[in-house]
Amino acid sequence: MSERITEAAAKPYEVAGELTLRPQYLSEYCGQTATKDNLSIYIEAAKKRGEPLDHVLFYGPPGLGKTTLAGIIANELGVDIKITSGPAIGRAGDLAAILTNLNENDVLFIDEIHRLNTAVEEVLYSAMEDYALDIVIGKGPAARSLRIDLAKFTLIGATTRAGSLSGPLRDRFGIVEKFEFYTVDEIKDILRRSAHVMNCAVDEESLTEMAKRSRGTPRIGNRLLKRVRDFSAVIGDGSINLDVTLKAMEALGVDELGLEKLDRELLTTIIKNFNGGPVGIETLASAIGEERVTLEDANEPYLVQAGLIYRTQKGRMASDLSYEHLGLKKE
Ligand SMILES: Nc1ncnc2c1ncn2[C@@H]1O[C@H](COP(=O)(O)OP(=O)(O)OP(=O)(O)O)[C@@H](O)[C@H]1O
Ligand SMILES: [Mg+2]
Repeated sequence: MSERITEAAAKPYEVAGELTLRPQYLSEYCGQTATKDNLSIYIEAAKKRGEPLDHVLFYGPPGLGKTTLAGIIANELGVDIKITSGPAIGRAGDLAAILTNLNENDVLFIDEIHRLNTAVEEVLYSAMEDYALDIVIGKGPAARSLRIDLAKFTLIGATTRAGSLSGPLRDRFGIVEKFEFYTVDEIKDILRRSAHVMNCAVDEESLTEMAKRSRGTPRIGNRLLKRVRDFSAVIGDGSINLDVTLKAMEALGVDELGLEKLDRELLTTIIKNFNGGPVGIETLASAIGEERVTLEDANEPYLVQAGLIYRTQKGRMASDLSYEHLGLKKE
């Protein structure tokens, strides 16, 4: 698969760079206002009581700041955070090792929590509910169950697929927050801050242009900003202006709505080959030679949110905005 600049998931080489751009406190975290307001109250209350915060579940598309907010919560609570992920916890013993190492009121962050296996998930239930581990030792009639008390802790789970989470697990979270795509103004605030951290001068017009093309996703915005900064260093004087920004976007193949080649191909195919739809996702995927999951996870959420396509029972349809954006006429 070719490298997509507007992919919302993190690229392996980006992980270290993202750390430097992560805000540390709620006051530096832009957008997600409802979630932020709720959390600041819960955090304050937990601190007053000297108790751990209730378990928190974050869900929403990749790159919207779930991991970042988990780090901020720990910071604001003044506790340590231990970060792991569903696929990284292979056996119940692995989880037990992590849990027994937590201190009072610490945060345990489990990314991709929908990917925990069943045996591990069951151990997590009693840990979340009673701050205890029930371990079975021995086999057959001689088997005994042993209970180990744990320090009280807060579990923060994150998932891009809330629907894949088991009911019993979901029910054990006292706080459930959905992440929304950011507005252009919110992304602008994030980019302004990032440019400041990167010590790079940028004007308002350029921030607007980049924000409009970020698909409502901070990770994509920061990525575009870095690429534009590269262009400005080579074809300009290192500061970012509209001219450099537009040239960079042209070179990267990102249009005014943040669409790339594959997005435009997808829309064009619905319109030209299927007369605007409805067309099933499977048929659509094979028509453009892409994996169904790629279209579903990477392209669709934003295209739906931007009002370019909509989903019906019979399949995907191109909206009037799609025709307009591509300069195509409805037949
Ligand atoms: N509200 C925000 N304010 C400032 N920066 C943000 C915000 N949200 C995200 N970012 C930046 O965007 C990048 C991606 O955020 P983060 O890794 O937290 O996303 P995520 O939701 O955990 O993604 P994934 O689902 O891939 O794990 C980070 O570098 C972070 O600094
Ligand atoms: Mg994350």
